[in-house]
Amino acid sequence: MEKLAPLTFIKSNTFDELSKFLKTKNYSSYFILCDENTLAHCLPTLITKCKLLTDAEIIEIESGEENKQLEIVANIWQTLIDFNADKNSLLINLGGGVITDLGGFVASTFKRGIDFINIPTTLLAMADASVGGKNGIDFANIKNVVGTITQPKAIFIYDNFLSTLPQRQYSNGLAEVYKIALIANKKLWQNLSEKREAKIIETSVGLKQKIVAKDVHDKGLRKILNFGHTLGHAIESFLLNTENPLLHGEAVVIGMLLESHIAFQKKMITKEIFIEIETVLCTHFNIEIKEKLGFENLKPIISNDKKNSSNKIRMALITDIGACTFDVEVTEKQIINALNYFEGNATKRN
Ligand SMILES: NC(=O)c1ccc[n+]([C@@H]2O[C@H](COP(=O)([O-])OP(=O)(O)OC[C@H]3O[C@@H](n4cnc5c(N)ncnc54)[C@H](O)[C@@H]3O)[C@@H](O)[C@H]2O)c1
Repeated sequence: MEKLAPLTFIKSNTFDELSKFLKTKNYSSYFILCDENTLAHCLPTLITKCKLLTDAEIIEIESGEENKQLEIVANIWQTLIDFNADKNSLLINLGGGVITDLGGFVASTFKRGIDFINIPTTLLAMADASVGGKNGIDFANIKNVVGTITQPKAIFIYDNFLSTLPQRQYSNGLAEVYKIALIANKKLWQNLSEKREAKIIETSVGLKQKIVAKDVHDKGLRKILNFGHTLGHAIESFLLNTENPLLHGEAVVIGMLLESHIAFQKKMITKEIFIEIETVLCTHFNIEIKEKLGFENLKPIISNDKKNSSNKIRMALITDIGACTFDVEVTEKQIINALNYFEGNATKRN
């Protein structure tokens, strides 16, 4: 089994752990990848608390998913060359999921692979994106279509970075925490709203690491992490070109609700469980959308989903709160029923 990144999550001494890590490794040079927001809000803390990084080269890119692309990768490769990065250099990804995905890809391809570490600064990156080794870029308008699976050498999580994160981004990350609870840990699901932030992140990361360790290359069990994402991704893509686009996590919440309804239709969960999921998600997230979704709008995107095979739609679906299975065949009718339920209840929820 491939070795996963050792996780350090000790809020009070995250940076002592980082300094210790750097001392043991003897890297020839350090590069820190950030965007304008993590440069302003997180970099000063990192450099103040970890003196070894005082002379690190800073590579700043513009924030946003639209920058997770090949041209930016090429610019970063060029900067690494200009500043004489060698096989023994370290790339430090300081940012949200865009930075950790992009930086992981840059590092895993530069000189056939240099070491990188992740210092996630959004809730989504702390609880999800920085963990598991999937990295990559968007290409030809397809999300994450080019990339590698390469583990970071370590992940350092400092949850104080969340203090500057906008509320909408925070809620976006919380969606993935609810997802991991729903697919893998009933206790987390039941106590989520009362738990300390640090504990929630630690538990989510632990659960994801455990799933990934069993299936690093995404051939089986790891697919359960896609619960809520088949329809969530279709909704996100469809709304992208409207006046009211959703963040990924916001779309995934609706995806989880719809896919739970499909699990209920297939008698994989009871009505009581479905209602509980609906109630919890509606309490903690704003799930209203202005646009009418309509199966015909989502169908082309769903048909291209990478989880399908033999022209059948396949999804990861829950079998209980805290349990999930994958490659479940779903019919168009079941998706339409779920959409009708969701849209039919919109007025009741308001
Ligand atoms: N590799 C994986 O397993 C995995 C899993 C889930 C998502 N992802 C990827 O993650 C990306 C989304 O990540 P994200 O939601 O973190 O988005 P992001 O990286 O774009 O960050 C969101 C915004 O928050 C800002 N920001 C970051 N940290 C901040 C801080 N501490 N204070 C203030 N502002 C801050 C960023 O500059 C950006 O504007 C997507 O590209 C998605 O594909 C990857």
